[in-house]
Amino acid sequence: MSENEFTSAVDHSRTSYGDEGFSRFLRRAFLASRGYDDVDLDRPVIGIAVTTSDYNTCHRDMPALLEAVRRGVLEAGGLPMEFPTISLGEILTSPTSMLFRNLMAMDTEEMIQALPMDAAVLLGGCDKTVPAQLMAAASSDKPVLLEVVGPMMTGSWRGQRLGACTDCRRLWASHRAGELDTAEITEARSELVTTAGTCAVMGTASTMACLTETLGMMLPGGATPGAPTGARLRHGVATGRRAVELARQGAPKPRDVLTRAAFENAIKVLAALGGSTNALVHLIAVARRAGVELSLADFDTIGAKVPLLVDCKPSGANYMPDFHRSGGVPVLLNELEPHLETSTVGVTGRSLAELLSDVRPHEATRDVIRPLDDPLGPPGALAVLTGSLCPNGAVIKTSAASPELLQHTGPAFVLDAGQDIAAVLDDPDLDITPDHVLVLRMAGPIAAGMPEAGALPIPAKLARRGVRDMVRVSDGRMSGTSYGTVVLHCDPEAAAGGPLAAVRNGDLIRLDIPARRIDLLVDEDELSRRLREFTPAPPPARGWRRLYAETVLPASQGADLSFL
Ligand code: FES
Ligand code: MG
Repeated sequence: MSENEFTSAVDHSRTSYGDEGFSRFLRRAFLASRGYDDVDLDRPVIGIAVTTSDYNTCHRDMPALLEAVRRGVLEAGGLPMEFPTISLGEILTSPTSMLFRNLMAMDTEEMIQALPMDAAVLLGGCDKTVPAQLMAAASSDKPVLLEVVGPMMTGSWRGQRLGACTDCRRLWASHRAGELDTAEITEARSELVTTAGTCAVMGTASTMACLTETLGMMLPGGATPGAPTGARLRHGVATGRRAVELARQGAPKPRDVLTRAAFENAIKVLAALGGSTNALVHLIAVARRAGVELSLADFDTIGAKVPLLVDCKPSGANYMPDFHRSGGVPVLLNELEPHLETSTVGVTGRSLAELLSDVRPHEATRDVIRPLDDPLGPPGALAVLTGSLCPNGAVIKTSAASPELLQHTGPAFVLDAGQDIAAVLDDPDLDITPDHVLVLRMAGPIAAGMPEAGALPIPAKLARRGVRDMVRVSDGRMSGTSYGTVVLHCDPEAAAGGPLAAVRNGDLIRLDIPARRIDLLVDEDELSRRLREFTPAPPPARGWRRLYAETVLPASQGADLSFL
């Protein structure tokens, strides 16, 4: 075996049990059966985490992306080694993909450590995969780069441009209101998800991809190229090449990249994107693993000075391919530069200031990435609330809420996750008005793994009268592609005996977003009396769900397992 500056990870067994030489011999014997000789095995080994699955339609084109990354690794003199991890597709995973985010993070972290590799490339895309992979990276001590499959293209139906999933929700709401019949909604359905790739709007997947690029865990320009494009494949090749350099240098490692300054930049970009509320939970979870203090309040204070700049659904009108054509994250970062800490260094090894010196704004498309002096919306796209209903915090996407509901007092209409909510809300005789506040509880991490159930449907009888938004409050999440005046992540959750558990039909709830508060207008003694009567449900009997329910942290702390 040749002695060079780099010694392959294949020889660094953690399972030699006293005979290092035999372990090395055995590894090379078995790898020979795959066709690898010493010339292969003396190269830097790049593990590539692959998350394809027939159940994850967003990742359909990942095999092509994998080939691109492999080619980059080979060109740079490395040895690519693919390995699978759990794949979390948002749409087909029950009861919610969020219940398995931490499991995927554990799987990925452990495989990076267990398998011989000098650096890793993690291929993800769909909503929970990127957060899980960032969490795993933050817990690992090998260099890691993330690469995403990229967003899907848009479709078109009867002259309307369509993209999942904001338009899925909008069309379904029209169907519920009787404006689209069954034949029409069925016809439109085939144009909503037209290609492989992640949802076409600034949902959770796109938000997390943009934040990954901002954090410096992905090569520049990687968040936005569309899944079916050559630009996506070229970014994959570049990622493979760079992974070999990181393997040779042994640095930077994720914890060198994931600094407090990097997270502050990510919070500002999140505000400028009008991005997904889910990002708050995910960024806090990643920061916690990186050993960086990040609180819910930071999102309000740090994000509060940054206006909404990116005009994409659900906070705006455009789609991810438009954001990409306008220059994507590099152009956005360039615009935000006065607000950013530009000494941060990501996987490129160059400072953000250096990277931004190469970026030119695309003058022709300034309508999608707006300049700081002509923003799309005011600062505060995401607001963090406290109050007697959520002493440890709650979140609302103000940029996707109705202006007339930002200050609103109304009687509670209470629902619990698990009951037949559709049957209740579709009842034509339901005693409800547009002023009611719909409360959904038992949708927090302990109760249900935090499903995206918070954007409750507007009761059918009101929807048919043209009501499109109502104040909704829950301890669950909502999809990054949703919109409306929806207060989420109420902490402590109802299942943990939070105040939400004490709400009764007719209690008044006051939302005051300018004051950053949501309060249950019930006398304190009465509230404590009701909470004393609350008995928590027993945890699931066994398995992952039991481990999860017994050890999950509250939403305001990132909902990771407490021991990770
Ligand atoms: Fe995968 Fe939307 S379902 S990103
Ligand atoms: Mg989503």
